[in-house]
Amino acid sequence: MSSTKFDFGLVGLGVMGRNFIMNVADNGFSVSGLDLDTEKVESLKEEGAGRTVFSTTDKTEFIESLAAPRKIMLLVPSGKPVDLVIADLKPLLDKGDIIIDGGNSFFTDTNRRFEELQKDGIHFFGSGVSGGAKGARKGPSIMPGGDKEAYQHIKPIFEAAAANVNGEACVAHLGNGSAGNYVKMVHNGIEYAMMQLIAETYDVMKQGLGLNNDQIQETFEKWNNGRLRSFLIEITAAIFKQKDDLSDASLIDQILDKGKQKGTGKWTSQNAMDLGIPIPTIDAAVSMREISGLKDLRVKADNQYNLTASKLDVTIADLETTLFFAFIMSYAQGMHMLFHASKEYEYNLDLEVIAKIWRGGCIIRADLLEQMRKAYDANSDLEHLLLDQWFTNTVSDLLPTVQNTVASILASGIPASALTSTLNYFSSFSSGRLPMNLVQAQRDHFGSHTYERLDREGVFHTEWED
Ligand code: 6PG
Repeated sequence: MSSTKFDFGLVGLGVMGRNFIMNVADNGFSVSGLDLDTEKVESLKEEGAGRTVFSTTDKTEFIESLAAPRKIMLLVPSGKPVDLVIADLKPLLDKGDIIIDGGNSFFTDTNRRFEELQKDGIHFFGSGVSGGAKGARKGPSIMPGGDKEAYQHIKPIFEAAAANVNGEACVAHLGNGSAGNYVKMVHNGIEYAMMQLIAETYDVMKQGLGLNNDQIQETFEKWNNGRLRSFLIEITAAIFKQKDDLSDASLIDQILDKGKQKGTGKWTSQNAMDLGIPIPTIDAAVSMREISGLKDLRVKADNQYNLTASKLDVTIADLETTLFFAFIMSYAQGMHMLFHASKEYEYNLDLEVIAKIWRGGCIIRADLLEQMRKAYDANSDLEHLLLDQWFTNTVSDLLPTVQNTVASILASGIPASALTSTLNYFSSFSSGRLPMNLVQAQRDHFGSHTYERLDREGVFHTEWED
C-alpha cells in the first residue's frame, strides 16, 4: 500500500458498500474499504481499478490508510453486526474520528452508540441511506443525524455522492443523535404505505376491471407521466413488462403472494403508537404483510367461504384519483409523526429540508414532494400537511371520487385495507366532532375513568343509573 491517506473509509463491501465506494470515488475522493471476505475485497480491487480506491481484510491497515479525522461509514446489517464492528475498530481510533452507520438501525440503538462513543471523543452518525444498490451507485438520498460540527467533515463527500435535484444535493444534517435513523424509519413507513396502496390498486385493476398485465403496465406507465410520477410507480410499470426466465408467464404472476419485511415499517407503527400519532395507512400496510404471510390459512379460508369478487363500476381515472389522494395521506401521516417526534426526541427537524432531500434518490421520491416542500417553506410550523392551502384545495377536489371509488371497491369484496384506512383517516381527521363522547361515557360508566365536558372546564364523574 502507498503512503496516500484516503479521504473516506467504508466497512462492509457488499453490493451497497461497493457501489457507494465507486460513487464517492467517481466524485473525486479517495476511498478505502474493509471487509473480512477476501472475495469482496478482490471484487472491489477489480471494480475500483483506475480510481483511488483501496481495499483490505486487515482492520489495522484499513485504519492506518485513513486521513485524520477518519471518516468511516459502516454498511453492514443492522443490529449486532454494527456493535461488533464498532467494538472492533474503537481501540484503533483517535479522538475526533467519525463513524457513520449507514444501515437501517433502530433509533434507540443509535442513541446508545452515540453516547458510548462520545465518551471516547468519537463522533457517531446514524445515517439513513435510501435508494437501494442502484441508488448507492448513482446517487442516493442520505439522512444523517449527529453532531452538527463534526458533520462538516463528511458534508462535502455526502453532498457529492447524493442524488441531486435542481442543483440541490439530497442530503442534509437532519438533527442531533438518532434524527437520521428516525427520519429514515419514517421514510420506510411511508414506503410500506405507498407500496401497499399500489398493490391494492393493481388488484382492483386485475380483479375488479379485468385488465391484463399489458393493460396494467400501460396504465402505470401513463400515470407516471402525470401527478403520480414517482419512483415506485415507475418501477411498478417496469415490473409488469418483465417476462419470466423459467416459464412462459409474466414474472409477476409467478411470484408468491407472501410479503417479507425487515422491520422498519413495524418500528414506524410501534413508535407512532408510543407517540400517540395515528398513521393508519402505514399500520394497514404492515398488517397486510402479516396477513399475506398466513398463506396456508388464507387458502383454507378461501376454500371454506368460496367468495368471488364482483366486477367494479369504477374507471381507471377514478383509481388514479384515489391513489393520488392516498399518496398525499401517506406522506401527511409520516410528516405528522416527524413533527411530533421532533419535539419528543428534541431532534429539531426541519420538515422542509426533509421534503427537499426526499425529492431525489430515495424510494419514496415523487413529484408531490416538491409541493410538500413548498408547504413547509410557506409555514415552517405547519403541524399537519392537510392544513396547507394547496393540499386543502387538492384533497377537497379529489374527495368525492375517492369516496365513491373506495365504496365500490369495498362492495365488490376486493381487499383494500390501506385504501380504506386512508379514507377513514381523512374522514376522522376532518371531523370536528367524533363519537368519542360515547366511549368516554362508557369508560366512566364501568370504570369511573372520568370525562371532560364541552360546556365547562374540569374533569367529571357521574354515578350512572343502571
Ligand atoms: C431504501 C429501502 C431499503 C430497504 C427496505 C426494505 O430506502 O432504500 O427502504 O432501506 O430496501 O428497508 O424493507 P423491507 O424488507 O422491510 O420491505
